[in-house]
Amino acid sequence: MSQQELLYRYNHPLPIGAPSDRALEAPAQAYESTWISEILQQLEAEFRGEWPRTLAEFNTALKALLNSDQASPSESSRFVAEVATREQFRSILSEYALDGLTEAQAMFAILPRLDLASQAPVMRILIDEFGCGNPARVHSTLYANLLAELEMPTALEAYLADRCAESFAFVNVYHWLTKRAPTVDYYLGALAWTEAVIPSSFQSYVQACERLQLQHHQYFSEHVHIDAYHARDALLALQKRDKAVGLNIRHAWLGALLARRLGDDAFLEIVRRVSTAAPCFEVRHGGKTWAVPLECPHRGGHLSKGHLHPQGKTITCPLHGATFAIPSGQRLGGPECPDLRIREVKHAREEGA
Ligand code: FES
Ligand SMILES: [Fe+2]
Ligand SMILES: [Fe+2]
Repeated sequence: MSQQELLYRYNHPLPIGAPSDRALEAPAQAYESTWISEILQQLEAEFRGEWPRTLAEFNTALKALLNSDQASPSESSRFVAEVATREQFRSILSEYALDGLTEAQAMFAILPRLDLASQAPVMRILIDEFGCGNPARVHSTLYANLLAELEMPTALEAYLADRCAESFAFVNVYHWLTKRAPTVDYYLGALAWTEAVIPSSFQSYVQACERLQLQHHQYFSEHVHIDAYHARDALLALQKRDKAVGLNIRHAWLGALLARRLGDDAFLEIVRRVSTAAPCFEVRHGGKTWAVPLECPHRGGHLSKGHLHPQGKTITCPLHGATFAIPSGQRLGGPECPDLRIREVKHAREEGA
């Protein structure tokens, strides 16, 4: 288990709402404190612009950063909007399920740490996250609806295996921000960035849903709409906090840079993973489904046309007879070549298995 996964399991005990595993506390928090302090040092060293000293300067700097990011949309955004196949879109959703299915749970922890004046606008955002009391409109339900349409599981447990560290980190950082950051100003800065960037960054997902003719696009289309309001609420929270107790602007700005960095890292890595993954075919056996690469790692023989052991234990390439174990992918015989990378595929009906 990677350190980020361990931290995620500590932050998100399952089932949702269960107490944290005390055995994970010391290693998770030790890892988190090194990870965060290194990344904050990096961000401090790398930021080339003028460090904002007042809230007005923070707002200006935030807009400038947003404009410069929007002026040069990444190739990854174009991939999601225009290229990703249905299968690739499923893989992207699998990575983000760590976030989408736990939507805003990390936000609860910030509320008691805030002064009364800044609690109200943050609470307003939280209320929207939870569908304004309508369970059908809770953001995590909207995410689950999209997963279900794509015949994917809707339980968080199904998505913990085989995720990239960046996907875990993207969620873990909000737990640090709300629970353990030395001031709440880091969180308020991060919130201001996140809410401001989503109306533009989620456009590529809205386009993908349209292109792939998905009916349950609301998770993305709703955020594009509502986060324009949330961006204003987040700035209001900063303003109220500044007036009530005084903001540490440096912390708020570092929070914004931190959210931007980890959001970008996750998105770029997820799209890289998905767009470069070898095409696979599915092998089903004993109630399980495995994604097996189409091409043999020896000389590209079509494994889907190969011989599958009657009990689903091995697959043999039709070209020169390389044989691989299922599910380990280990080469058991035939010409010298790398092992196969086989992964388990979970379908909705196997949920919780
Ligand atoms: S291509 Fe598969 S064994 Fe040679
Ligand atoms: Fe949301
Ligand atoms: Fe939002």
